[in-house]
Amino acid sequence: MQKSKEEFCESGREPDGAFSGEFDQEFDQKFDQEFDREFDRKSTHDLKWRRAGVEAYLSQPIRDDMIPMWIADTDFGCMKGIVEAVKRRAEHEIYGYCAPGSDFYSAVAYWEKMRFGWDIQSGWVTALPSVVSGINIAVRAFSEEGNGIIVQTPVYDPFINIVKRTGRVPVFNCLKNTDGHYEMDYDGLEVLAADPNNRILILCSPHNPVGRVWREEELRRLAEICLKHNIMIVTDEIHSDIVYGDHCHHPLLSLDERYASKFIHLSAPGKTFNVPGLKMSFALIPNPEIKAAFDEMQLAMSLDIKNTFGVECVQACYTEEGVEWLGRLLAYLEANVDLVCSFIRTEMPAVRMERPEGTFLCWLDFSEYGITDEELLKRVNLGAGVVCVPGEWFGKGGEKHLRLNIGCQRKALETALRRIKDAVG
Ligand SMILES: Cc1ncc(COP(=O)(O)O)c(C=O)c1O
Repeated sequence: MQKSKEEFCESGREPDGAFSGEFDQEFDQKFDQEFDREFDRKSTHDLKWRRAGVEAYLSQPIRDDMIPMWIADTDFGCMKGIVEAVKRRAEHEIYGYCAPGSDFYSAVAYWEKMRFGWDIQSGWVTALPSVVSGINIAVRAFSEEGNGIIVQTPVYDPFINIVKRTGRVPVFNCLKNTDGHYEMDYDGLEVLAADPNNRILILCSPHNPVGRVWREEELRRLAEICLKHNIMIVTDEIHSDIVYGDHCHHPLLSLDERYASKFIHLSAPGKTFNVPGLKMSFALIPNPEIKAAFDEMQLAMSLDIKNTFGVECVQACYTEEGVEWLGRLLAYLEANVDLVCSFIRTEMPAVRMERPEGTFLCWLDFSEYGITDEELLKRVNLGAGVVCVPGEWFGKGGEKHLRLNIGCQRKALETALRRIKDAVG
């Protein structure tokens, strides 16, 4: 019999394969070895590790021996099943135009059910090249130039940039920050949602960069305001698998049929399985009219043909092997979070950081140091050679912050933290 979402959340997080804390020492060492494995990423075209690429992206010179902790991919090798699926497909020798079939839809359905107890239908699924392209499609399909699109800063910067590039206007409903703990500003949202020029809210759930995993009642409160004022929510849930401790991710559309009939869900295996370069994500849109308009816009933007290897990858990720691998990944990441928290507490107490509830991103507040954002970046990115994303990129509320990507080997994380401490003083 199917368990309710609440049961899933309360039963030791059985469906998400999260760490129960009960592995024996031998197992502990085994999975540490799995994720401690180092790779030479400088010899590939990986954006995160190519110095010239990093310098161009950040408009800043970077040390030769940099530790890149900026763009949100991880330094972990892919699970075996993915590598095998990609190799198998590569050996076929023909890489023609690709359209995913029923195996792809079944894989997505399996994952949503397994992880979140959500029964989806294959007719809801649209395959996409990336989550960001899904946001771009939705903004173009369901608003017009000059319309306002609500974003909750500090937030993943492409939310703001896409809106500007499509000729729409980003409208900011800043998160409320109480001693490093972030909440949504519902009063502010009521006002913005009531403006008929504002059409869409782009939700980040879990939230990059502040690491919140929104509770069910928080999501419901947000959704009710948006429903009341006819604001469409485009919910980006790409970080939904990376959730720690007792926190539980709730797909917004799974909470209420009224949400499912009005809103758009976007997600991908990119963050979880470290495969964003394979360019494969998906939208779930239960309302057939909204889905038809979304699909039509995808076609109009010539994004309908999919990546051959991406399709194979999704089918390899969303499997029983994927569930088990994710359990080990979460245990490793959670130990990295522990390390950062304890280092900050004991070695850099002037930095404020709330323990992330989800994501492999830490959001560090350096405002007590009394230095400018420029100086902070100079000391950390150039001085320490630890490449972080400047908080200002995430919009209002990001000042004096840095975002640290801790999806890396523990040894590198330790070195990075020590270097940051020495450079910041
Ligand atoms: C919230 C969020 N959405 C989307 C993306 C990018 O996803 P994709 O590569 O599928 O566009 C990221 C990557 O950092 C992200 O943090």
